[in-house]
Amino acid sequence: MVKGSGQGIIPADETPGRTAMKASILVDTFVALTLSTACGQAESARPTKPEQAAEAAAEPAAAAQGASSVTWDDSIEQEGYRLSWAVDDDLLHVSMSAPTTGWVAVGFNSAGAMKDAQIVIGYVSAGAVSIRDDFGTAFTSHASDVSLGGTDDVANAFGSEAGGRTTIDFTIPLASGDEYDGAIVPGSSCSIIMANGSGSDSFTEIHQWAGVAEIEI
Ligand code: HEM
Repeated sequence: MVKGSGQGIIPADETPGRTAMKASILVDTFVALTLSTACGQAESARPTKPEQAAEAAAEPAAAAQGASSVTWDDSIEQEGYRLSWAVDDDLLHVSMSAPTTGWVAVGFNSAGAMKDAQIVIGYVSAGAVSIRDDFGTAFTSHASDVSLGGTDDVANAFGSEAGGRTTIDFTIPLASGDEYDGAIVPGSSCSIIMANGSGSDSFTEIHQWAGVAEIEI
């Protein structure tokens, strides 16, 4: 089970009334971590995996080039946005998919909208994935961890853009040690945020749709 809600700031006319969710409701978890030195990359273009269909979000999929396949632990869907995840030792594999040709994002450990959330935002353009490890600097603003003095801890990103839907898979550490990444604790409740843009390949465009939920990872 799950508790969540979505809101189309610009109405998503192609996704009326679709809400199907599963996961567990618990309480928010926020863990302060230690500061690390700046390094890593603000953003990067990575190869796509075109054969990955949008429908594969809740199916086993390769989480990294040449890596073994992932069986998703669980997933959530709100109004066409789908998120699937799987814990793998000290890593979290994630697949996010939304009805847009623009950006798709997820945030973990939200303290309300984007505030304090560990955000991963990406888009597919000209056959390549651009993806960034961000932090919610306020309820309605976010910046890359790197620009704040942290590190970009997103790995193994690949994605596709097909049929008006963008799907991006990636891996993050459960606890990167970056102060701009709250720890993700398996078995505990996590306040997540989900959003997608209207079509621009951008890290700064406001969302066409945004939603919130409590999940258990
Ligand atoms: C530069 C990009 C962004 C801007 C300018 C922006 C701006 C805003 C604004 C103005 C609101 C309040 C809107 C309202 O209540 O009508 C809002 C709400 C929200 N935003 Fe963003 N946002 C951005 C990116 C993101 C991203 C990347 C996420 C998720 C990863 C996100 C998640 C949310 C959520 C969950 C809400 C609350 C929605 C609700 O109450 O149902 N936003 N944002």
